[in-house]
Amino acid sequence: MAALDATNEAWLAESLRLIAGEVDSLFDSLMPIPDDKHARLVEAMRYAAIGGGKRIRPLLLAATAEMHGVDRNASLRAACAVEAIHVYSLIHDDLPCMDNDDWRHGKQTVHKAFDDATAVLAGDSLHALAFSILSDPQTSGDPFVRSELVHALAMASGSNGMAGGQMIDMLAETEAFDLHTITRLQQLKTGALLGAAVEMGAILGHVPPEGRMHLRAYARDLGLAFQIADDVLDYEGDEEKAGKALRKDAGQGKQTFVSLLGVERAREQAEILVEQAVGHLVAHGEEADLLRSLARYIVERDH
Ligand code: IPE
Ligand code: IPE
Ligand code: MG
Ligand code: MG
Ligand code: MG
Repeated sequence: MAALDATNEAWLAESLRLIAGEVDSLFDSLMPIPDDKHARLVEAMRYAAIGGGKRIRPLLLAATAEMHGVDRNASLRAACAVEAIHVYSLIHDDLPCMDNDDWRHGKQTVHKAFDDATAVLAGDSLHALAFSILSDPQTSGDPFVRSELVHALAMASGSNGMAGGQMIDMLAETEAFDLHTITRLQQLKTGALLGAAVEMGAILGHVPPEGRMHLRAYARDLGLAFQIADDVLDYEGDEEKAGKALRKDAGQGKQTFVSLLGVERAREQAEILVEQAVGHLVAHGEEADLLRSLARYIVERDH
């Protein structure tokens, strides 16, 4: 596979650093701490949302939007909506009733730093925040675009998307699944939200549904590669770099691509998927280079 060369690697690192700063400052302005008794809830939301994470979904959305000439302010708002759903999913994923993790982004998980009830409510509130951002005319003056954005994110978040995938993931601790079911699990749990990020960039760019097919295909292959990389990192990664506990999947008897294929074949599969993802961008010129670099980064990352 063509690896990320040094120039593209530096460019991607700079793009991730830039969007991380922009996401942090927009989250900061969207979540002012109120001067009343629910301040603790907003503190927990801010604790989870600001200053952590690779911000892959925001960059996917912003890169797709930029290819289609979208104003940065609009794409950043939509990017924060997707990231708010992602952050909420991580807060709930870490709860004792799910993965029971104490460590995320190099600091205590929300239920450890606050308490379980506050963590549930912070997740709920970030979920609502996502849709309040998208339905706000500041994101787009076009009501049709706003409703398409809301629809895309809702579909990717609920029972036919991330939450549905999390359900199958919980069952994967106790039931034996074949590769087809594990693939379905990962497409829902991780792929749906990554796919929504790309789709929403295209929606903001007024790309009609028939013009989005190759972007959807790119996102589908990338989403699967992303989750295989997460599973490989869980198996052999460095906890300090990851900022979270690893070796959890095997510990919980959870079936993943690594448990089904073995680590070598899982890694090979991820690389094939990245090549396929990049192949779907063949009709684009250098305006799609950031999406190409992101796809390679997703399997080469160490955290
Ligand atoms: C981790 O996602 C959870 C999965 C969906 C596998 P990321 O690796 O994108 O998480 P952060 O936000 O960068 O920590
Ligand atoms: C979490 O998957 C996926 C979602 C939150 C939707 P994992 O449980 O594998 O994520 P990590 O490894 O805890 O980050
Ligand atoms: Mg989990
Ligand atoms: Mg987890
Ligand atoms: Mg994992």
